[in-house]
Amino acid sequence: MVKESKPIELANGVYWLGVLLEKRLEVNVYLRVFKKGDKTINMVIDPGPPSVFETVQQNLLSLTKDLRKINFTYINHQDPDVSTNVMYLHKYNPALKVICTEDTWRLISFLGLDDANFQAIDKFKSLRGKLSTGHSIRFVPTPFCHFRGAAMLYDESSRILFTGDLFGGITHSPGLFATSVNWHGMRSFHQLYMPSQDALRSAIDSIRSLEPKPEILAPQHGALIKGDLIEEFMGKLYDLPVGWSLLETLVKHKDFYIEAINDILQTISHRIGEDLVTMAINKIESDGTFPNLFEMKGNTVIDIKLDPSKSFKIFLDALQEGQPKENIEIIRNAVLKAAVDWNLPLFESMIDENAKASDLLLIEED
Ligand SMILES: [Fe+2]
Ligand SMILES: [Fe+2]
Repeated sequence: MVKESKPIELANGVYWLGVLLEKRLEVNVYLRVFKKGDKTINMVIDPGPPSVFETVQQNLLSLTKDLRKINFTYINHQDPDVSTNVMYLHKYNPALKVICTEDTWRLISFLGLDDANFQAIDKFKSLRGKLSTGHSIRFVPTPFCHFRGAAMLYDESSRILFTGDLFGGITHSPGLFATSVNWHGMRSFHQLYMPSQDALRSAIDSIRSLEPKPEILAPQHGALIKGDLIEEFMGKLYDLPVGWSLLETLVKHKDFYIEAINDILQTISHRIGEDLVTMAINKIESDGTFPNLFEMKGNTVIDIKLDPSKSFKIFLDALQEGQPKENIEIIRNAVLKAAVDWNLPLFESMIDENAKASDLLLIEED
C-alpha cells in the first residue's frame, strides 16, 4: 500500500518519491535534480527495495520522463531496503554511476554491477564533490551507524542531509514531517539497529559540525525532520543507550529489573487481582519456560536467570493474553511507571509492542 502516490518537492529540485506503507517499516526514496542552463543531472538517493520500485518508477517517470536520464544513484549502505533497486536503474541506464563507499560497493556489486559504474566516496579526500552543473555535494561518513561503510549525503544548496538509517524510525503517524511523538519509534529503531553509542555520538558530532547547518534531515525510514526537532532528536539520540552498551546496561541493571517487575506485579495484584499474576506464572510454568526464566518465592521474583528484558517480555505476554482492554491499560500503565521509577530502557517499547498486538484484537478508542 502506498502512502503517497505523487512526488513531493521538499526544496528546489529535491523530491520525496513516496513510501511504501508496510506493517514493519516505511521506506523513503529521494530524487535530486541538479540543473544549470541546458545541463540536468538526476540523482536517486537510496533507491529502495523492489517492493517499492513501481511507485519509484512512476514518480521518476513523471519527473524525468525517461529512466535512462537517471545519471547517478547515491547509496548510504548496502542493506536490501536501501540499495536493491539500483539493479533496475542500472538496466535502464548501463552507464549509471553509483556513489558509495568502498565497503558498501564490495557488497552491492553482487547485484550485478560493474566496477565501471562505481564512484568511490573514499577517493574524495575533502569529502566534497562538484557536479558538472556546479553544485556541491558533501559526504559525511557515519562508521558503524549502522554499517562500517555508511555515509550520509549532504546537499549543500538545498541544505538537506540524507541520513540513511540514522534518524530513521518506525512510524505510525501519517505526516511527512516528524513531530515530537515520532521520538518513540525513532528510539526503538536506533536501539535495535545502531551497534554502538560511541558511533552514534560520533555521527551526531559530524552533523553538528556541518556548515551551513542542515535544514531538513531526510532519513531512509519514517518521517523527515526539520526545525527545532533536529537538535531535540540529536540530543536525545546522543544519550540513548544502544547496541552493545544497551546490552551491558541491561545486564548491569538486573537488580533494577527484579525490583521493577515486582512493583508491576504488586500493582497488578492490587488493581486487578492476585489471581491474574498466579495465572500468568502457571501459564509460563506449564509450557516449561518459566523455571528457566525466573526464580520465584510465591508471587515475588527473586532472580532472573536469562536476559532480563526478554524474560520480562515473556511474562508480560502471559499477563496480557486474553485480558480485556481495561486490564491491559492497567498493566501498561504499571510498566510505564516502573520504567520511569527504575530508569530502565526498553520497557516502554516492549509494552507498546504488546499494546499494538492487542489493538488488533480490541478496538482502540482513540
Ligand atoms: Fe540499514
Ligand atoms: Fe534501512
